[in-house]
Parts: sequence; structure tokens; C-alpha cells
Amino acid sequence: MANDSVRFLDTTLRDGEQSAGIGMTVDEKIEIAKQLQKLNVDIIEAGFAASSPGDFQAVSTIAREVRGPVICSLARAHPNDVDQAWEAIKGAESPRIHVFLSSSDIQVMHQLRKNREEVIEMAVTMVERAKSHCSDVEFSPMDATRTNPEYLFQMLEAVIRAGATTVNIADTVGYAIPSDFARLLREVQEKVTGMDKVTLSVHCHNDLGLAVSNSLAAVEAGARQVEGCINGIGERAGNASLEEIIMGLDTRKDLFNVDINVDTTQLYPTSRLVSRITGMSVQANKAVVGENAFRHASGIHQDGVLKDRSTYEVMQPERVGVPGNSLVLGKLSGRAGLQSRLEALGYSLSREEVTTVFESFKELADKKREVTDRDLEILMDEEKRSA
Ligand code: KIV
Ligand code: ZN
Repeated sequence: MANDSVRFLDTTLRDGEQSAGIGMTVDEKIEIAKQLQKLNVDIIEAGFAASSPGDFQAVSTIAREVRGPVICSLARAHPNDVDQAWEAIKGAESPRIHVFLSSSDIQVMHQLRKNREEVIEMAVTMVERAKSHCSDVEFSPMDATRTNPEYLFQMLEAVIRAGATTVNIADTVGYAIPSDFARLLREVQEKVTGMDKVTLSVHCHNDLGLAVSNSLAAVEAGARQVEGCINGIGERAGNASLEEIIMGLDTRKDLFNVDINVDTTQLYPTSRLVSRITGMSVQANKAVVGENAFRHASGIHQDGVLKDRSTYEVMQPERVGVPGNSLVLGKLSGRAGLQSRLEALGYSLSREEVTTVFESFKELADKKREVTDRDLEILMDEEKRSA
């Protein structure tokens, strides 16, 4: 694969906000947008300007205040939505309008209640309208992965002719499987006239737990824009988790051979901020940003990590902004882990002393899930008194 670059569209402020039970104030959205700017994502989907006055205000403030990334607003394929999107983003350094419309028969017939030809006509008219405002226009066929492929190709070709500069294959209901998704994307590139002039993007949901795998398979198949949310928040089971895709590409550069612009050291601070503002906690074993992502509990692992971190870590915690690894001390811990923590607490022990303390430590660890620094200090005090 050629060494070119993949761009990230962060939709935490738009699709992420569609998570059940969360809502963000305008100020909170601006705070997140400023952190996304530090993270150096390529495109921030700041909201859906026509959806509410609050969203309009958030999108327009972000457009004025956040420099660097492209600032994008979502719009349904309705004239008013497209015009509102433009009104909100026109102050941006690099504005983008993102128009979406259902393409699967299930949604076209049951939700839009139109025929296929009418839907293509709507898509073309609204892409042309967006293009009359702004040179950067993204189009998403919603539910693309459940759409008749020939119809999907026809629709993509029509919107490219109408001026779309990015076409985004949306796995709206998280139905795709990596191999199948990759095949669809290869076909899109082979069969759709004009694909060589536009950016192929993907937008994956996590209903089957495959959003990140599908996004990575898409990059291998030629996608050059990936959409997702920090911490994988979003509708139902969420969107593809941006930090996981980013670190997949970064860690396995040997396979993907693509450049990314993101400052990976800002991933952890961004994750913490999004969690704090949305109130959605991050599970401890979450890849990349979970509390346990760089903690090693078993003696064998601790011993290995102390000798060389690469024995049990595929990426360094500092690379994602986590300050150093922390070994969890408990009943599975070994002598090396204990000695290292005691040294970090300022104790220097002979081999014999470590053996004695280790026995007391094991007794204590059998009674507790985790032995804390304070426990160790008490243990060391007791050892000293009985010596
Ligand atoms: O999931 C989806 O289809 C979307 C579109 C608006 C891109 O969020
Ligand atoms: Zn979505």
C-alpha cells in the first residue's frame, strides 16, 4: 500500500451527542472542540446546525473560534438544513457541509416513502445547493451497507457529478463484517466513475462490536477518511472509537503504511474530558484509554515489563498521554513487582529482606483485591518493628 495519509473526522459533538441520556451545553461543546484542536483531528463535525438553536450556536461559535481543523455541520437533504449549515459554518477557516440521505430500500421505502429515482434526485439537488455555498461538501448514503450495491454506486456517481468532494460509506446500523465491508469499498472504487477525484470515507457503528475492525479493514481497502467518536460514544452501541483506530494505525504502521496527523499524546486527556463532560464513564479494560490499559497484575507480566516494557505492551502509555505504567499489586504479583514498588516508595532492601517482606505481602494480598502504597508502608513499619 502506498504511503499516504488518513484523515479523521471526529463526530463526538454530533453523533456522540446522540448517545442516549447525554446532552452537552454550548460551553461544554466548545471546550471539547478546543481539545480536539489540540488533538489535531483533521475535521470536527461540530453539530447539526438545523437541529436546534443551541446546536446552531455551538457550531457557529466553534466555526469562529477553532482554527486548524475543517469545521463541518451535518444537514439532512432539505434546503433549510443545508442553508442553516452554511450559516453556522461560514465563519470557519475551512468550512464543510455534510449532507446525508437514506439509500437502503428499508429506509427509502419505510421512512422516506419515496422511490429510488426520487431519492437520487433529492441527493443531487441538495449536494448542488451545498456546493453553491461551499467548495467542501461531504455526502453520506445512510445505511449504505444494507443498500443494493448497484443502486449505491449509481447514487455515489450522481453526487460526485453534482460536486461532492467526500463520499462517506455509512454503516449506520453496525451491520458490516470486516471482509465484506472491505469488498464493498473495493467495488466502490472500481465501479464508481469519479472516485479517483474524491475522498472515500467510512462511518461505522458498533452494534456488533465491529466498528473499529471495520474501520481498519476500510483503510486497508483504500478509505482515506475515517469517522468516529472519542471513547466510542454515540447512538445505541456507539460509533467507532477514534482512539482505538488511531492507535491501530499508529502501532501497526508496518501493515497500513499510512500517515496520520493526530497528536496521539492528547488521546488520554481528550478521553478524560469527554468522559467528564458527558458523564459516560470509560470501562476499566477499554483499549488505549481504560484505567487498566497499561496496568499489569500478574507476576510474570510484571517481571517482563520491569525488564523491558515491550514484553507486554504494544504501545507505550506516554504515546497516548498516560503518564507511565502502574503495576497493580495483588495476590498474583511477584517479587520483582513488589521490590520495584518499594523502591519507588524509597525503600532499599537486601535480597533477604525482600524475601521476608514478600511473605508478609502475600499474606496480606490474599485478604485484599489490591495492595496499595499505604498498605506497603504499614507493612514495612511492622517489618521494622519486628526486626
Ligand atoms: O450513522 C449514520 O449514518 C450517520 C450519518 C448521518 C453519516 O451518522
Ligand atoms: Zn452515525
